[in-house]
Amino acid sequence: KSTHPDVRERTLIAVKPDGVQRRLVGQIIQRFEQRGFKLVGLKMLQVSEDLLSQHYCQLTSKPFYRNLVDYMTSGPVVVMVWEGDNVVQSTRTMVGPTNPAAAQAGTVRGDFSLHVSRNVVHASDSLEGAQREIQLWFQGKDLLNWDCYDQNLTM
Ligand code: PPS
Repeated sequence: KSTHPDVRERTLIAVKPDGVQRRLVGQIIQRFEQRGFKLVGLKMLQVSEDLLSQHYCQLTSKPFYRNLVDYMTSGPVVVMVWEGDNVVQSTRTMVGPTNPAAAQAGTVRGDFSLHVSRNVVHASDSLEGAQREIQLWFQGKDLLNWDCYDQNLTM
């Protein structure tokens, strides 16, 4: 019987259009799987401007907002929900700072990116932000609560 509470901490991670076009989706997923986080939702989509304006609602007056929308609508994104203890903060650390120029090697941005306008991934920045973003991008039925039932698998 599982000793975990029904729903553990979750966060939203998106591979942005540059990450998809550069074939980085698998490597990015691998990092979070390898760390021990659980993938509970995944989809690929062409994002609408309407969804982006809700996702980035605090940024609509920023000078870079138009560029950000053009970038995020330039091709499909792969959006995921990951679950696990402290997943919001841990995945932010694994992704690295927003500006890849400041990102350490070993982080996603530090390994794959040079510029803030092509920074490969999005990761929710707080628990509240994660909850808001997950509700925005996913319907509840598309998030799966699964466990490792196969006793022959050693995890
Ligand atoms: S701010 O101004 O501090 O609120 O912005 P910041 O937290 O640094 O970044 C918020 C998101 O905007 C993206 N961003 C940019 N995109 C394109 N061009 C420029 N110049 C730019 N500056 C910031 C940044 O990647 C953040 O997106 P997410 O998806 O959250 O990583």
